[in-house]
Amino acid sequence: MKIVVIGGTGLIGSKVVRELEARGHEAVAASPSSGVDVLTGEGLAEVLEGASAVVDVTNSPSFEPDAVLEFFRTSTRNLIAAERAAGVGHHVALSIVGTRRLPENGYFRAKAVQEDMIQESGIPYSIVHATQFFEFLPGIVQAAADGDVVRVPPVLFQPIAAQDVARTVAEVAVEEPLNGGIEVAGPEQFRFDEIIRDFLAANGDPREVVADPHARYFGAVPAERSLIPEVGAPLAQTRYEDWRKA
Ligand SMILES: NC(=O)c1ccc[n+]([C@@H]2O[C@H](COP(=O)([O-])OP(=O)(O)OC[C@H]3O[C@@H](n4cnc5c(N)ncnc54)[C@H](OP(=O)(O)O)[C@@H]3O)[C@@H](O)[C@H]2O)c1
Repeated sequence: MKIVVIGGTGLIGSKVVRELEARGHEAVAASPSSGVDVLTGEGLAEVLEGASAVVDVTNSPSFEPDAVLEFFRTSTRNLIAAERAAGVGHHVALSIVGTRRLPENGYFRAKAVQEDMIQESGIPYSIVHATQFFEFLPGIVQAAADGDVVRVPPVLFQPIAAQDVARTVAEVAVEEPLNGGIEVAGPEQFRFDEIIRDFLAANGDPREVVADPHARYFGAVPAERSLIPEVGAPLAQTRYEDWRKA
């Protein structure tokens, strides 16, 4: 089965390519460095020729709310048009747990628009909603830092290893389209401030972590369960401590 991984050079994309190859599929990593650009449409028709499925694991270079909305709107529009022209039978996208729960979070809002466009495209699809990657912890710290203080809301948080996300995405891509979404999360729940405090200490970072119920997460104040999956969602295997020590 030929599967094109758009964003196949990224954190998740490169792992999805390896997971698909390990299952005996022809996985094609597509990104600007291989001449495929979802914003301009360059190279899309050629790379999609003969593809059974497309996995979209691209990301916006900027997390500024308008930029990220523009990125996912344009990229999804171009991808859907190219998939329709090429007769691709399965569109797989990676989104985030809770995109509908925090509309004040500009990044989540853009991902929700991406999800709507996929659902309305008429192309059979599957959307994987993952929780925050362990690998994204430094990005969260950067966004929450204010001088020597890192403010995060003490809500529930259930991060996952990028490798486990990639495995789930690859498994979904070779199955029949769900025409819906699934959630996937790490095996343990933490308090958001607790794991950030541990992560900084483990990296010798002296910054103080403050549990602030009013602190925003990319523009939104999450409620207790905003960032965790529904009860019963499949849980990945890799535990935080094992990932950190690996
Ligand atoms: N971070 C989290 O905790 C989290 C949680 C759940 C879901 N997600 C979702 O996971 C997805 C993948 O994230 P990631 O961390 O793996 O991203 P990443 O490492 O930043 O990789 C992004 C990929 O997109 C490609 N790309 C960027 N602009 C492109 C363009 N115009 N045309 C074609 N490809 C382009 C990049 O290519 P180059 O290498 O050439 O730049 C790269 O391969 C995102 O959609 C994100 O919303 C993230």
